[in-house]
Amino acid sequence: MTVEIRPRSAPTPTLFLWGAATSSYQIEGAFADDGRGPSIWDTFSRTPGKVKHGDTGDVACDHYHRYLDDVQLMAGLGLKAYRFSIAWPRIMPEPGVVNQKGLDFYDRLVDALLERDILPWPTLYHWDLPQYLEDAGGWPVRDTAYRFAEYAGIVHEALKDRVSHWTTLNEPWCSALLGYANGEHAPGRKEPSAAVAAVHHLLLGHGLAIPTLSGNIGITLNMSHVTPATEAPEDVDAARRIDGIQNRLFLDPVLRGSYPADIVADLADLSDFSHVLDGDLEIISRPVDFLGVNYYSPALVAAGEPAAQGSTPWIGAESARWMEGGRKRTTMGWEIDERGLYDLLVRLRKDYPAVDLYVTENGAAFADVVSADGAVHDPDRIDYLQRHLNACADAIRDGVPLKGYFAWSLLDNFEWAHGYDQRFGIVHVDFDTHRRTPKDSALWYAARIRKGEL
Ligand code: FCB
Repeated sequence: MTVEIRPRSAPTPTLFLWGAATSSYQIEGAFADDGRGPSIWDTFSRTPGKVKHGDTGDVACDHYHRYLDDVQLMAGLGLKAYRFSIAWPRIMPEPGVVNQKGLDFYDRLVDALLERDILPWPTLYHWDLPQYLEDAGGWPVRDTAYRFAEYAGIVHEALKDRVSHWTTLNEPWCSALLGYANGEHAPGRKEPSAAVAAVHHLLLGHGLAIPTLSGNIGITLNMSHVTPATEAPEDVDAARRIDGIQNRLFLDPVLRGSYPADIVADLADLSDFSHVLDGDLEIISRPVDFLGVNYYSPALVAAGEPAAQGSTPWIGAESARWMEGGRKRTTMGWEIDERGLYDLLVRLRKDYPAVDLYVTENGAAFADVVSADGAVHDPDRIDYLQRHLNACADAIRDGVPLKGYFAWSLLDNFEWAHGYDQRFGIVHVDFDTHRRTPKDSALWYAARIRKGEL
């Protein structure tokens, strides 16, 4: 067997897709325009004490009104693809009601992107569940999965002539566990058993939506490379459990058609999985074309009580601790380790070989300011992106079918429970004037795209 060793400077295939990502509630604003109905994030952000400073997405980046300028900005940076999400409550503001004006917005956005040769990469669900569906029980209720598939079909019908890549869900782990188990995200419920059912109904919604879509279909999961802090059996077991809850609980049903038996056993106190009906796993494991990988930080875990934390621990993390890896952190407190991305990508190729991979989110929050010279100097973000893109290049060289990369995020935006304090954008947004200023990282990213090499 000959092993081909390619120099680090080897060009990547020109087909590598360079993009940036956002999501509807985080950037659009216009919360009541053109017939949009309320979502769980409208309700949650208006509930005192849930979001820092009482921030809401009412206005956010005002992207709904400024989308043309934003698309122009993307074109100026040379982006080849734009990952955005569609706001379900714009499309179906009331039960059974389709809002044409909501569809029209995405219609205009898609046209504007295509005119500038930017591939539209919509996600159908990035956490903004219509409030009326939560009032009817939300994701712990099976019917929500059917409502999602119905909505997916409606959006597909409107955009199918121009959209070739569809993502069903963004990070169902967050929707289910942060939304229904520890309550840090909308709808803010603390019902761990309901969260286990929510996992299943989100995945069922994904599977039910697949036949309503055409082209390339995928799902985006937030994943981490989990390693035990020591070789002690209890630390190894803690790492198994965290990896199981965060990664395998989603990967296995979607890509293998089964729930991981060890995790089903670990969750026995919370759920007997009787919400899983015959045939569900066949639906959930309908073939997909790609897996979207959202990666920010590694996880070094040990057995033991979680360190003092203000919130309820995640399901499965009650007896696991995140250890200090000794690396620099972002303002989110997330440790920076690009090796975790490399290891994750290699692991995915090994354990789930049948799908193409895209990094659909990767990026960092820092305390960026507009300097006296009018620029935003963010060397730490450039360093972060550089390191992670190098990890991607290494993974590709080692045979990982990684086809593209989306920086999170195009714009500074509403960072969920953190409000506007955490700036993830490669473009700075002044939330008083809505002025956009490409940060040094955006200019650096544009140059990297122009060079065409990973
Ligand atoms: C991910 C979310 C995204 C953003 C980043 C920082 O979990 O998908 O909306 O908030 O984290």
